[in-house]
Amino acid sequence: MRIDVVSIFPAFFDVLEVSLLGKARGNGILDVRIHDLRDATYDRHRTVDDTPYGGGAGMVMKADPWGQALDGIAADAAENPAIPDRPVFIFPSPAGARFTQATARELATAPHLVFGCGRYEGIDERVFDYAATLGDVRLISLGDYVLNGGEVAAMAMIEAIGRLIPGVVGNPESLVEESHEDGLLEYPSYTKPAVWRDREVPAILLSGNHGAIAAWRREQQVVRTRERRPDLLPE
Ligand code: ADE
Repeated sequence: MRIDVVSIFPAFFDVLEVSLLGKARGNGILDVRIHDLRDATYDRHRTVDDTPYGGGAGMVMKADPWGQALDGIAADAAENPAIPDRPVFIFPSPAGARFTQATARELATAPHLVFGCGRYEGIDERVFDYAATLGDVRLISLGDYVLNGGEVAAMAMIEAIGRLIPGVVGNPESLVEESHEDGLLEYPSYTKPAVWRDREVPAILLSGNHGAIAAWRREQQVVRTRERRPDLLPE
């Protein structure tokens, strides 16, 4: 998968060099390219924002640097036979549709994602309309809270999507028994020793009875989900 990221803070993405995603980049499963939006400006101050039409607090990201940056990525994609001509553009935004495990699964099948990270009060609305001429456009929110910009949200999405790409996570079975994969929260896990600071591992897990263990784990999933996330359960 090819991932392009456009941001005024490229350093946020330095962590993509470590852990499983860093390894996936090293062995060619993931091709990640980070672009500084200011490289797509032409004035001495490398200006990316301006005051909002109609007044109001804060600054708005100017359309033209975004247009230039997206054109550059689209032109590069058009020349690269390994990726489709039309990428999926993802703009992290608290005003977007909610990101879920289903979104991650869907996006993990796309060959080319482009993350556009806005700052300030957001990006000039015309940029989304223009991006739609180059590819599919998705405005996606991480949750019902406000971050300072799209970078941290993009990082979270890249990790959630990237780990679903075959070969990124060493043991694919570990992807199956996770929170949200079957609509429930994950069951509790324990490892040795069997007693730690007077706390015992549930006896069933030491029983060797695989059927009983599977049933207990399922029950724990339901109990936890009811306690912590009742919204996930059917009425
Ligand atoms: N940018 C600012 N807040 C955000 C959020 N909650 N989700 C995605 N992008 C954002």
